[in-house]
Amino acid sequence: MKLYTRLINREHPLPEDFVPEHLIDIGIPFDAQPGDPKRLLEAKAARAAAALINRSRQEGLNIYGVSGYRSYLRQKELYTGSPYVAAPGTSEHQSGLALDVSCPEIRMELTEDFASTPEGIWLTRNVSLYGFILRYPKNKEHITQVPYEPWHIRYVTKPLAAYLALTGMTLEEYHSLRESKAEIL
Ligand code: DAL
Ligand code: ZN
Repeated sequence: MKLYTRLINREHPLPEDFVPEHLIDIGIPFDAQPGDPKRLLEAKAARAAAALINRSRQEGLNIYGVSGYRSYLRQKELYTGSPYVAAPGTSEHQSGLALDVSCPEIRMELTEDFASTPEGIWLTRNVSLYGFILRYPKNKEHITQVPYEPWHIRYVTKPLAAYLALTGMTLEEYHSLRESKAEIL
């Protein structure tokens, strides 16, 4: 299955040894020191994230990267059992396609307050234009099995991001629709 549209969750984990082929520094203002692996994303996702964040800066917003790539081992270290931290192998951060962002107004925290900052509002309106989705939306927690995370964006390519934005579907719903169509055909 193609990496960019791949469903990664508890039922569909990544292999323990999965590491994205091309990881690069996103090159955007980041709440981490140069050299920290959390500044990395898969190359195509990194370029899309840079375009998104650069555009937001041109519009006077102050979005910072907080956490991008995380290895299986790093996710294992972080895993506490909290619903906000996926179990090792089940985190999109291991794919290099997910980025957590925040802003100084909320001290770079990853909290629901981000949604009501100008940065969070802008992000919600613009992510899909750059090939990203807000992966864990409000009122879809029963489907994603992850609490509302207005700070976690996931690269899925522009065509799929546009389709999901227009239909309001999560990645889980998109994949189960595809599976049911495949059964009919
Ligand atoms: N916060 C999301 C669920 C993760 O750890 O990948
Ligand atoms: Zn995240």
